[in-house]
Amino acid sequence: MKIIQASNYTDLSHKAANIISAQVILNERSVLGLATGSTPIGTYQQLVDWYKKGDIDFSKITTFNLDEYVGLGKEDVQSYRHFMDDHFFSYINAAPTSLHIPNGKAADMEAECTRYETLISDAGGIDLQLLGIGHNGHIGFNEPGDAFEKCTHLVALNNSTIQANARFFHSIDDVPTHAITMGIKTIMQAKKILLIANGSDKQNILEKALYGPVTPFVPASILQLHPDLTVIYCYEANASSSKNKESSC
Ligand code: GLP
Repeated sequence: MKIIQASNYTDLSHKAANIISAQVILNERSVLGLATGSTPIGTYQQLVDWYKKGDIDFSKITTFNLDEYVGLGKEDVQSYRHFMDDHFFSYINAAPTSLHIPNGKAADMEAECTRYETLISDAGGIDLQLLGIGHNGHIGFNEPGDAFEKCTHLVALNNSTIQANARFFHSIDDVPTHAITMGIKTIMQAKKILLIANGSDKQNILEKALYGPVTPFVPASILQLHPDLTVIYCYEANASSSKNKESSC
């Protein structure tokens, strides 16, 4: 496990973007696992900047996002598909057909989970998986529970996750109660994992995840067992908004 302390959110974003960029330069056909949430926004901005300068070519990558809300599609501004288009996909030269996100509007959720898992394995698995961490230790939408859920599955979101993510919706009642997420096995099979955490509000859970017991009650704790995990963190005062991320730690 490599643990890197960033000096501020910009530094964290540059470091994370550098690792993703190196991955794509070393293997232009990289399969990237991507994450949403406020933490990776700066990483995507940096990658877009380098793309615009001609420093990086995304034309041959394939991507798989971790998760999507059930009931939301591309047209919903709070969907993760919309988030990815808005922050990354619309600005780069990746082939649209190579950018995968679970379909939150699928008629048959079980079939959609199987389809997504098969797509990932058909692509040869994930080379580099980017992760954020939820306040309860979730990765993707793998919520704390009695067991590590293995493959892509349908999940009922915890109240704490619904409350944490309500900031992106008009009201808490609009937050979907369910999501499709890659499972812990899907994530752990990635060849490399890059976990990013920003804000003093993430310090407690990140320390539990990295140094506490490996337990499904802290889903991110399983990452201690991954052979190639890099963690970049910055305990900046408040990570709740992407607008306040330029201040120093
Ligand atoms: C959501 C996503 C997670 C993400 C988490 C933390 O719940 N499903 O993948 O890691 O939010 O988000 P933030 O970076 O906004 O703290």
